[in-house]
Amino acid sequence: MDINSIKAQIDSEIGNINSPETLEELRVKYLGRKGLIAQLTGSIPGMPQGERAAFGQEVNALKNKITFLIDEKHMGITGNTTESPLSSVDIGLPGISQELGHLHPITQVTNEICAIFSQMGFAIVEGPEIETEYNNFTGLNIPLEHPSRDVFDTFYLKSPDSPVQLLRSHTSPVQIRVMKSRKPPLAVVVPGRVYRPDAVNVSHSFMFHQIEGFVVDENIKFSDLKGALEVFAKGIFGKKIKMRFRPHFFPFTEPSAEVDISCIICQGKGCSVCGQKGWLEILGSGMIHPNVFKNVGYDSKKYTGFAFGMGVERIAMLKYGIDDIRLFFENDLRFLKQF
Ligand code: PHE
Repeated sequence: MDINSIKAQIDSEIGNINSPETLEELRVKYLGRKGLIAQLTGSIPGMPQGERAAFGQEVNALKNKITFLIDEKHMGITGNTTESPLSSVDIGLPGISQELGHLHPITQVTNEICAIFSQMGFAIVEGPEIETEYNNFTGLNIPLEHPSRDVFDTFYLKSPDSPVQLLRSHTSPVQIRVMKSRKPPLAVVVPGRVYRPDAVNVSHSFMFHQIEGFVVDENIKFSDLKGALEVFAKGIFGKKIKMRFRPHFFPFTEPSAEVDISCIICQGKGCSVCGQKGWLEILGSGMIHPNVFKNVGYDSKKYTGFAFGMGVERIAMLKYGIDDIRLFFENDLRFLKQF
């Protein structure tokens, strides 16, 4: 039987079929192991070399056509597509949802603060948590007799070799690193972990996070510091916030100031959160001390700059009304899921 007569035959035969059983008989006749298609395929090896490929293709096309016709007929008779693997599954059954994690609130607040300074043109730089005593203290004009250099106030690492190493107690040593390796103009923010041997309580932890910021160029003024910090405070706490600068002392800035914002709970009227003062301290700041410039090899007659440092936990606690710093580190999902 040749291909064309088989084509004509199936076309006429399939029209008369109206039960699954007769359709199955038809399928066996054409597509079965000893069916017409198998016979055609079996005749290929006996053909002249040059005709085999073309004939094989024709047989394949015919087989596909017959398969299609039979499937179509099956649908027509039973109203069903061929058995789907989904038919034995209840696809309406709700799945088991996978919970997605998210960034820790401290990471979120850090990112938010850095984004505000990025918009003002600050670069984000990181430094190591293990520092030299020089970068953490001496280079920053913190004298040997300063209480923070006491072994009870800083985690020193046992290092038989000089230089003496420690866990940095603030992010300010990154000022030294950046200034030693780059030339002004500089505008940098430095997020990172810092360590102090404090007993853990509602407001203290032996490890917490700071963000340092500093700008160095010709003609940088205290008003530039105020402007940058105002953009930051309004960005984090809202446009209505007021700021005040209180004189303070840091060895590495002169003049120095602590910065307060109007209490976000009572709007400055006085409440238990601000200790009836109406103000909340948020960071330390000042104009970079000429001795720091001298230590990094900058000309302090040519360049001026400002610096500031803030605790991220403190900012996050104020922003979200959190009253215990330990919540950040206990990893209790009931707390973390709220952010
Ligand atoms: N490093 C200071 C601290 O940890 C904060 C600070 C940074 C103050 C930069 C002034 C300038 O308390």
